[in-house]
Amino acid sequence: MKDKVILGVSGSISAYKAADLSMRMKEMGLEVHVVMTAAAEKLITPLTFEALTGNPVTCSGMPEPGKDPMPHITVSRGASLVVVAPATANVIGKAANGIADDSLTSILLASNARVIFAPAMNTEMYNKPVVQENIKKLQDQGGFFIGPTTGTLACGDEGLGKLSDVDDIMVVVKKFLRLKRDLAGKKIIVSAGGTREPIDPVRFLGNRSSGKMGVAIANEAVKRGADVTMIAGALETHVSDDLEVIRAFTADAMLEEIESRFPGCHCLIMAAAVGDYKVRNVANNKIKKMDSLLLDLEKNTDILSQMEKLRKEQIVVGFAAETERAVENGKEKLLKKNLHMIVVNDVSRKDIGFGADDNEVTIIMRSGDEITPNKVPKAELAEIIIDKVVELLPGKFVDGR
Ligand SMILES: Cc1cc2nc3c(=O)[nH]c(=O)nc-3n(C[C@H](O)[C@H](O)[C@H](O)COP(=O)(O)O)c2cc1C
Repeated sequence: MKDKVILGVSGSISAYKAADLSMRMKEMGLEVHVVMTAAAEKLITPLTFEALTGNPVTCSGMPEPGKDPMPHITVSRGASLVVVAPATANVIGKAANGIADDSLTSILLASNARVIFAPAMNTEMYNKPVVQENIKKLQDQGGFFIGPTTGTLACGDEGLGKLSDVDDIMVVVKKFLRLKRDLAGKKIIVSAGGTREPIDPVRFLGNRSSGKMGVAIANEAVKRGADVTMIAGALETHVSDDLEVIRAFTADAMLEEIESRFPGCHCLIMAAAVGDYKVRNVANNKIKKMDSLLLDLEKNTDILSQMEKLRKEQIVVGFAAETERAVENGKEKLLKKNLHMIVVNDVSRKDIGFGADDNEVTIIMRSGDEITPNKVPKAELAEIIIDKVVELLPGKFVDGR
């Protein structure tokens, strides 16, 4: 079956280049559905895209009687990728703020597919803080931006704002479509969030994990075709409806949920911050306020060490949250728990790690290889982590195109 791609065309002077892009996508064997904004329709006709793609074009206005009454839903269904090229400052702003006042912006909300934005605009527009904030917002939600590039703009200015070359956009399109499938048929367990060990019916021992990194990894694995189960403790982040989530708030509950699924999975990614200790005698009633209270703690069963005993072909990825000697401690944990890979976070820094939207980690492989990507949004880091997982999994997808 052909991959379905939605090409969103908005009202930039470079909209004519989208005609070439639509043709290149069709030549690549994709089913291309073009969706145009009203401004784009003033700059290039829908007929051009209909002729090039062989598919009807979805225009900006409300549907005519007798036509598909809800094209934003019909077009979104089954799409593997949405490419907005060119993406105006206006369309980026609307998408970043959940505005859906025409077909394209409605599709951007209705679709669960990955979105590539190729911005094109005047340099001053592009550099405006509000435009940059909107771009950052979309990136944090998994949107990918290609360009703009520098060159002579339609307004005559020289500078940043030119639509990326169609060739370069095609490279990204191919990459995303390949990535989408490279976990097809793989069952992946991702643990996320922090555990909460009860003290009494109202109090618990917890940690600062927001679950953002684990959720980003689970989302990325879903996008790339994996069958993902997320075992989640406490989360302080949105979880999309696409994700199968099993809640497990204590280390014991998490162990039980993971243990029962581990034999049937290809990969376990332990991104959850599992508490090391639990309270030995949890009070049945709320403990009254006293001058002091001593808690008797016992060690939780270590989930990764338990899984090591059950392991056959599974790839196991651990996380280490460290406040000192992060890389050395991470290496020790990798060896001790016989992991394939460990992602080491320095949680002493406020701008990364627990609760932050960005992360900067060191990824250590069992082979000894180490990579330290730049500080990036967690969604982007998830992509890098999953790339590494794909390399470790046997029978990885090979792109034949
Ligand atoms: C000839 C012309 C060229 C334009 N080029 C751009 C552009 O390259 N980038 C941009 O953000 N806006 C550009 N605009 C302004 C947009 O068309 C305008 O913001 C419009 O409301 C965008 O609507 P849309 O985002 O729904 O397509 C241009 C306007 C005109 C008249």
